[in-house]
Amino acid sequence: MKKIIITIDGYSSCGKSTLAKKIAKDLNYVFVDSGAMYRAVTHYFLKNHLDWTIPEQVVDAINHISLKFEYNAQNGTSDILLNGENVEAAIREMIINENVSDVAAIKEVRDFTVAEQQKNAIEKGIVMDGRDIGTVVFPNAELKIFLTASPEARVERRYKQLLAQGKQVTREEVRLNNEKRDYIDTHREISPLRKAADAIEIDNTHLTTLEQEKLVMDMVFEKLKN
Ligand code: CDP
Repeated sequence: MKKIIITIDGYSSCGKSTLAKKIAKDLNYVFVDSGAMYRAVTHYFLKNHLDWTIPEQVVDAINHISLKFEYNAQNGTSDILLNGENVEAAIREMIINENVSDVAAIKEVRDFTVAEQQKNAIEKGIVMDGRDIGTVVFPNAELKIFLTASPEARVERRYKQLLAQGKQVTREEVRLNNEKRDYIDTHREISPLRKAADAIEIDNTHLTTLEQEKLVMDMVFEKLKN
């Protein structure tokens, strides 16, 4: 059967990865969480006490970073490896949320991660979520989704997710972080977050995960038919 590229872009905490994982599972496609790559690069800077405002340190860091995804049989998705180390848990900490959008705005960082992301498309059958996947990484993708949800719903979802992971966080902290990241992501010079002209917008504020999965799977089948 024909295989396609599906991109899912959108604002912070609107459920992109949840949707992308389900679609990839349904289709037996590869799922790539591009945000995890920016998070892992941010983790590298913080762990090694590097300053991403100093260009030489950025170049040096990138030359020492290798990113890979490894299948996790426990939850059926994949974990990110930073230089061989599984950093999946570390990159979900608030300290990463606080800094990732600044790191993701750096040209050298984006050049590196976008090139890595595009390597995944040598063979199709891929679902990738992020901010610039439909606009920059895969502008020719067959199906592009732009996911949105109300700011309140997004705060609530991320807050509950962090609590379930045992993190000490308040709704206010989550709200401020979502706002800050959305602002930086939409205002940066390189590859700002925006809806691709040919993307289909889905507001999932009042949709269950099953409803949004079905909606997108119907779109996929439509694409595969044509
Ligand atoms: O899951 P959540 O919406 O919280 O964010 P994420 O997908 O893990 O992405 C974390 C951060 O990485 C975003 O806030 C962006 O600053 C950056 N990012 C990006 O610039 N481009 C992408 N394709 C994916 C993420």
